[in-house]
Amino acid sequence: MNAQIFRERRRRVLEAMGSGVLVIPAAPVAIRNHDVEHEYRQDSDFYYLTGFEEPESVLVLSSEAPEAMTLFLRERDPEREVWDGARAGLEGARETYGADRAFAIGQLDEELPRLFEVDRVFYAFGRDPQFEARFFAALGAARRRAKTGARFPTEIIDPGKVLHRLRLLKSGEELQLMTRAIDITREAHVRAMAEAAPGKYEYEIDAVLSQVFRRRGSPRPAYGSIVGSGPNATVLHYRSNNRQMQDGELLLIDAGCEYEYYASDITRTFPVNGSFSEPQRAIYEVVLEAQLASIRAVRPGATLDDVHRASVEVITRGLVQLGLIEGPVSEAIEELRYRPYYMHKTSHYLGMDVHDVGPYFEGGKPRPLQAGVVITVEPGIYIAEESAAPEAYRGIGVRIEDDVLVTDQGHRVLSAAIPKTVADVEAACRGELG
Ligand code: GLY
Ligand code: MN
Ligand code: MN
Repeated sequence: MNAQIFRERRRRVLEAMGSGVLVIPAAPVAIRNHDVEHEYRQDSDFYYLTGFEEPESVLVLSSEAPEAMTLFLRERDPEREVWDGARAGLEGARETYGADRAFAIGQLDEELPRLFEVDRVFYAFGRDPQFEARFFAALGAARRRAKTGARFPTEIIDPGKVLHRLRLLKSGEELQLMTRAIDITREAHVRAMAEAAPGKYEYEIDAVLSQVFRRRGSPRPAYGSIVGSGPNATVLHYRSNNRQMQDGELLLIDAGCEYEYYASDITRTFPVNGSFSEPQRAIYEVVLEAQLASIRAVRPGATLDDVHRASVEVITRGLVQLGLIEGPVSEAIEELRYRPYYMHKTSHYLGMDVHDVGPYFEGGKPRPLQAGVVITVEPGIYIAEESAAPEAYRGIGVRIEDDVLVTDQGHRVLSAAIPKTVADVEAACRGELG
């Protein structure tokens, strides 16, 4: 994305703030051990407003100064750059990233109090304790200067209030990146379906996913890939991915790549040997019908509760019909009898973060969906091996997850090209698709 897009985002967030100063530190570096660091990924809020990926930086946006954007960052350092690669430096901050002013990060404690001659500061507590100490120190310094007549912040506001509302509504450029992420993820899932076979290990399929992600320019998965076979498909956050797959089992893959800071989040479930058994197909068809019913409920004005309820109704009816729970259906819904088999919600927001930001409630009520919001729709049925279900169904876990854009007309399934019907999934397992 070009510099103009980030500039426009800053303009909009300043407009939404009204007056005040916004402070967002870059994501802290996480040490893995000794001098080895975990892979670095910039903080989503910070990146959304800057496009700047270096650690040890702080963004300050001010509605009051003529210089709206101040960036604190690492100075150029030829010796360090031999080891770690090029840095933008102060000049790069101004010329490439549009900062009105740039300071070395070492000057933060001295300069920040000067930027705090305002009534309101937008800052998110509880994320980065080390930075927080410096933030408080700057606040204290600004307060001490009050006796000279300078203003100091008397209100501290969570920036999510303005920023996350903007992030919730996706622009054309953002949707292009999400569509790209989803297309890469489509190829990964289709290949995984073709490659899976009895006797292979879950991590071999995990490797297929990663290979497609990286080959097509995605830097990383948007979250840890779940590759769960047989009974592992019933473990919601299964992450070990180290079991040998057996003939006659299902494989549940919940994996999506990140592309230019935008996430995809897709689940497909398919038979390891390429053909659903009768009990597997019966459960799969219920989940698919539930998912389609929930997708139909996605439109402006509907709430995520409405979307969830559509899945609960279909799943409960299916579980009653298959003899896993007792009816009648309305009573089973009322008494939450479906819960042992469907224990999570159907949707979450999707964007730069897999569980994206944005308000779920407003005034104590679920917030209605708006055109431009992207959500997941991901019902499932999970029948643990030790459950009281009829034996034929034990150990079956099915989830189907798509990424859905709310449009003025209703919705668009961004991941519609990923095989989902029984016939398409079986064809993909035979290697006939993609
Ligand atoms: N992969 C995380 C989720 O589906 O919410
Ligand atoms: Mn998922
Ligand atoms: Mn999800």
